[in-house]
Parts: sequence; C-alpha cells; structure tokens
Amino acid sequence: MDYKRHILVTGGAGFIGSHLVRLLVNKYPDYLIVNLDKLTYAGNLANLKDVEAATNYRFEFGDICDLERVAHLLEEHCIDGIIHLAAESHVDRSIKDPLAFARTNVMGTLTLLQAAKAYWSSLPSGYEGKRFHHVSTDEVYGSLELGGGFFTEATRYDPHSPYSASKASSDHFVRAFGDTYGLPVVVTNCSNNYGSYQFPEKLIPLFINNIRQGKPLPVYGRGENVRDWLYVEDHARALDVVFHQGANLQTYNIGGFNEWRNIDLIHVLISTVDRLLGNPEGHSLGLITYVTDRAGHDLRYAIDATKIKDELGWEPSLQFEEGIERTVRWYLDNQEWIDQITTGDYQRYYAEMYQL
Ligand code: NAD
Ligand code: TYD
Repeated sequence: MDYKRHILVTGGAGFIGSHLVRLLVNKYPDYLIVNLDKLTYAGNLANLKDVEAATNYRFEFGDICDLERVAHLLEEHCIDGIIHLAAESHVDRSIKDPLAFARTNVMGTLTLLQAAKAYWSSLPSGYEGKRFHHVSTDEVYGSLELGGGFFTEATRYDPHSPYSASKASSDHFVRAFGDTYGLPVVVTNCSNNYGSYQFPEKLIPLFINNIRQGKPLPVYGRGENVRDWLYVEDHARALDVVFHQGANLQTYNIGGFNEWRNIDLIHVLISTVDRLLGNPEGHSLGLITYVTDRAGHDLRYAIDATKIKDELGWEPSLQFEEGIERTVRWYLDNQEWIDQITTGDYQRYYAEMYQL
C-alpha cells in the first residue's frame, strides 16, 4: 500500500512513546508508523500488544546512536517525519550514571539529526514536507519558587540534574540544526506525565504498586516538591497536534495546569488505592516513609501552556481526579504487566528474541 506519510517514532516501546504509537496507528490508517527502540530496561513491547498486528505498524529493534542503522532505516521506510522520544528518562538513574544519559540523549539525538539531514537533503524534494519533532521536558528550565511564576517558552534554560542537562543539550542541538542547516525542526517541552504503562520506578506507578503490596512509600525530603501532572494520552494528543500544525523552529510548552505537592498527591494515591481495594480509610497512611532527599531536587515545575492553546487549540481534556482514578484502576487491573517487570521476565523474552 502507498502511505500518505512515513513516520519514525523513536522510543515507541516506552511509556509516552507507546501511547503516541497507539494514537498514530489507530488515527491514521493511511500513515506508516515505524517504531525504532533499543528495548532498554524501560522499553517493553507488551505496551503495544494491541497495535502490533496493525498493517500500518512496524517495529525496528535498534539504537538511535547507531548512525548506519538509522540512516538505513530512514531510506528503507522513506521516512518523512520523525517524532523523537527515545531517551534515558529517570532523574535518579542520571545521578548514578550520567554518561549513559549523555550517550543516548545527546549523542543519540545528534545522530538522528545527522541522519535526517543527510537523507532529506539527498532527495529531490529536500526538506519540503519533512519534520523533525523533538520531544523534551520542562525540567530543562530548572526550578521555580513555591507559589511563583510559570515556565514559558521564553524561560532561560537552567538544568540541574544530569538528566535535564542532557535533555537541554539535545534541545540546543535540535535548534542548532534548524538555524544552521534549515532542518524543519520543532520542539515540545512537557511537564510530568502519568497514566498506564509507566515504568514502575517513577513516583505514581511505584507508589500504587507499593501501597497494594503494603510496602514503604519512600518520600524524598519533606514531600514538599511540586510537579505539574498531565495525563499521558493528553500529551500524545498534543504531540500529534504539534507534529501536524506546529511551525518550524518553534517551541511549544505542554502542561496540565495541574500542580500538586508530592505529599498531597501521595495522599490521593493512598485513598484511591485503599478505596478500590476495599481497605478501610487511612489503612495505608502508615506506609509513608520520609527518606533522604534526592540530590539537587528541583523544588517546583509548572508549565504555562497558553501558547499551544492559543496557536494550535490544544488543551488538557481530562480532570486530574478522573485521570488518577483511571490510572490506579489500570495498575490494579494489570498486575501481570507489573509482575513481568519486577521479575525481569519481560527482558528475558526480548533478550532471546533479539539475541541481546
Ligand atoms: P521511557 O523511559 O518510558 O521510555 C524511553 C524509551 O526509549 C524506551 O522504550 C527505551 O527502550 C527507548 N530507548 C532508550 N535508549 C534508546 C536508544 N539508545 N535507542 C533507541 N531507543 C532507546 O521514557 P518516557 O517517560 O516515555 O519519555 C519519553 C520522552 O519524553 C523522553 O524523551 C523524555 O525525556 C520525554 N518526557 C518525559 C516526561 C515524563 O513525565 N515521563 C515528561 C516530559 C518529557
Ligand atoms: P519522578 O516520578 O521521578 O519524576 P521527576 O523527578 O522527573 O519529576 O518523581 C516525581 C516527584 O516525586 C519528584 O519530586 C521526586 C519524588 N519522588 C519521591 O519522593 N519518591 C520516589 O520514590 C520517587 C521515584 C520520586
């Protein structure tokens, strides 16, 4: 079949990537969606079970740092759009192993940019109808005061963790390729996501699982840090909108206008899990355990998402109460998905399949 567009999604076996792949495969049957993923600890093809047999979907196992592999894939699938999500994404891991973050997030992004530039500029149509969409985070902007302002697209970059420093660096490379070579790039910076298929090292899935099992809930510091939470399917919708309608060389902030102090969010998680499990109110409150704070822990993130609303008409669709209810239910109903991760079975399966 002739496809109208040929889109490469990187990191499509991860949390946000799998939601984006699902949205694109289902919404655009006339597009070919190619998912390039290295299946690191965070990649899990079980996240895509419901779309893996779709005729307009291909999975490609590979590393974004492998220039030859990426160049070959772009040509083989006639890729005209790239939505780049592959990354090392967990702040705590970046504190332990910053080099891995520089490798994937910086060098991997640069490798993709090089390959896209070389392939597209070799075509008669050049950059016409092409797009390189880089998916980034609000953490590049640094930290806000409690009760202070918001991050806008004009906020100066001020990353503090090795993770946010690597994402900031990758954002700069993407813009540099736009400015220097005219590559048609667009960047989005999003706040904290929550929802199904999030790797259970991140706050929300980790705590839901621990509450269910009666394990301690390690709250960093005093639990006073503030995050702006967005339902992952709303993020995927925003990526679709920006990929199709965003202007070249522009940045769009994406956020939920939904700030929560960690400790308040944890109380919501406890009461929701306890209610859904039929436990008496307050049953799991004693699991809260204050632990040593994360090094360089950013105090507050909050996105001003006015630009994407005014210019592209996107805004969050789901109220937080409903999003959390759906999310908690999903993790409680999909215990097998979590178990495969905690036992390591999901990786053994792929290791055999791809001879890792
Ligand atoms: P994730 O850790 O769940 O998934 C990352 C995916 O990338 C995995 O499937 C992994 O296997 C793949 N990957 C890692 N290294 C690779 C490599 N070298 N080559 C190919 N594939 C590789 O991450 P996520 O939470 O879904 O985040 C996706 C993107 O969105 C990241 O770029 C992240 O910085 C950004 N982001 C995340 C959030 C959030 O709250 N999770 C918020 C804003 C922005
Ligand atoms: P996380 O989900 O790791 O996202 P990020 O660091 O990218 O914001 O953490 C969300 C918040 O929860 C952050 O302020 C750190 C805090 N946190 C804990 O208090 N305990 C934990 O075990 C984890 C994983 C996070």
